[in-house]
Amino acid sequence: MSRLCGWIIRKARVGKVLIVEICGNNSKPYVLALREDRDKELYSIAEPLDIGSAICFEGTLAPEQKSRRGTEYVATKIEVYSKPIEPLPVDIAGKVPALLDTRIKYRWLLARNPVEKAIFKIRAGVLKAAREYFEKNGFIEVQTPKIVAAGAEGGATLFKLQYFERDAYLSQSPQLYKQMLISSFERIYEITPYFRAEKFNTTRHLNESWGIDVEQGFINGVEDILQTAENLVAYILDYVRANYKDELEVLGVDLPKLTPPFKRLKFTEAVDILRSEGVEVSELEDLSDAAEKKLGEIMAEKKHELYFIVGFPWTSTAFYYMREEDGVYTRKFDLDYKGLEIASGGQREHRYRNLVEALRNKGLNPEDFEFYLEAFKYGIPPHGGFGLGVERLLMKMLNLENIREAILFVRDRTRIVP
Ligand code: 4AD
Ligand code: MG
Repeated sequence: MSRLCGWIIRKARVGKVLIVEICGNNSKPYVLALREDRDKELYSIAEPLDIGSAICFEGTLAPEQKSRRGTEYVATKIEVYSKPIEPLPVDIAGKVPALLDTRIKYRWLLARNPVEKAIFKIRAGVLKAAREYFEKNGFIEVQTPKIVAAGAEGGATLFKLQYFERDAYLSQSPQLYKQMLISSFERIYEITPYFRAEKFNTTRHLNESWGIDVEQGFINGVEDILQTAENLVAYILDYVRANYKDELEVLGVDLPKLTPPFKRLKFTEAVDILRSEGVEVSELEDLSDAAEKKLGEIMAEKKHELYFIVGFPWTSTAFYYMREEDGVYTRKFDLDYKGLEIASGGQREHRYRNLVEALRNKGLNPEDFEFYLEAFKYGIPPHGGFGLGVERLLMKMLNLENIREAILFVRDRTRIVP
């Protein structure tokens, strides 16, 4: 005998039988088939209930599973916990597909539907898998401040705030702090929000997004970081495929197994490939969104869904990436998934003098970074890491068209509620 709870998402009458579908955290609806003549008492409780009522029932699995829509139970008791006081503003049965705007506004309600909820169950699974991978590989979970005095990813996307007598910012990335911690931790990770004042509405940007951030010391080169990144992503995909079969099925997603090593494409090779396809690209700047997408199509033809672009030019990167001897290229990489950057990372500059010079070279004032620079004085080992965008990963895994589908409450240019 189980006690199962949820909301009525659908009711239908077939002759003398009342079919009630209930969804809580379950991936397939619980289905009760109540007969007017046989189940008099339960029928009289359920019959007047509106869609949206919150109920629990006690029951056992039906010996004969007749419903194709869910798992049938034989109930012995139904308890009503709450009734809607108004008709629901959205169709939680999912018969009428809601527009994205409506889905964003009412996600907290629409998630009663297993299809909408599946995305967020998988999201939880992605983080669970990541933590499992890190635990198995000697990484310690840390938390760094989200109110900060300096940004790491460029002034244009900093959200400023008043911190008593002085200015402060919302953290764009744990970059500076995770590097400082490599003064005392060998390997760390953080699951963290990124706050970025992205001014444009795109299908790939949020103003509050989440990242899985990694930093790893005692490395022999950027290859060590590439391996951590590809092994982590492969682990997450395997974990989701193995543990979220029902959710993938309701979403109609087939997650093929992708085995590392993923293709490593040099930045200069990417430029050549794109130019040979007639795409205009600069040798000195980051790839445009259009170029990134086109490269995704070219790589897909070669059966590469996930691939690295390595060796970005110094003119395109943040100050903290290690430069190659030539001074032109860096040890920065992107990990792209079906034509979208899902992670950036690389080997860092850990040599004090070079780092100060790098700040100056990027037009930043080393004095503003003193707290950070100090960490490079006392034996910090060669290190590197990356930041993996949770929503971007989900978007590509689940073939979502808009990043807003991958987060429960959206913060973008126009949304600050709900
Ligand atoms: O590429 P980004 O800016 O790199 C960093 O933050 C570095 N500190 C990482 C490092 O360790 N070197 O951000 C990392 C990832 C991006 O690849 C993207 O997936 C995601 O975070 N991301 C965003 N996702 C949605 N909306 C935004 N505005 C995002 N900004 C970054
Ligand atoms: Mg990036």
